[in-house]
Amino acid sequence: MREQILPIMQSHPRKRESLIPVLQEVQGVLGYLPEEAVTEIAQFLGVSMSDIYGVASFYAQFRFERQGAHSVKVCQGTACHVRGGKRIMGEVTQQIGLEPGQTTPDYKYSLEKVACFGACALAPVMVVDGTVFGRMTTPQVKKILSQY
Ligand code: FES
Repeated sequence: MREQILPIMQSHPRKRESLIPVLQEVQGVLGYLPEEAVTEIAQFLGVSMSDIYGVASFYAQFRFERQGAHSVKVCQGTACHVRGGKRIMGEVTQQIGLEPGQTTPDYKYSLEKVACFGACALAPVMVVDGTVFGRMTTPQVKKILSQY
C-alpha cells in the first residue's frame, strides 16, 4: 500500500493544507481510507491521526471502510420520496440484503441513501456506479442490479 500512496503524498507540499487533496487522491486509488494509509499520511504531513479522522469525518465523501465493487445509491429526497423512493430503497435492500451504509460480505455492493441527486425531474432516482437511473419502478431494480 505504501508504494501506492507515497507518490500521491510526495506530489503535495508537506503541510497540513495538503491533507484534503491527499485524502481525496488516496481514496481515489484505494477506494477508501484504511487505517494503514491514515497512519502513513499522518506521519508524512506531520499531523495527528485524530486530526485526520476529525477532518475527514466532516466530509461525507471520505470512507474508512472498504467499499463494495459497485456503489448503489438510492435517493430519499422529497421529490423521490413523493414518487416512491422508499419502495425503491425497500426493493434494493431486499435484492442485495443490505441496509443503507452497509457493504455485502463479498464486497460486491455498497448501499447508500442520498438526500438529493439534483435530478428531481427523474424521481425516483437510483445511481449505480455513477450511472443515473430515473423514473425507477420496483421491477427495474432487479433488472438493473443484475447487470452489475
Ligand atoms: S429528491 Fe431525488 S433527485 Fe432530488
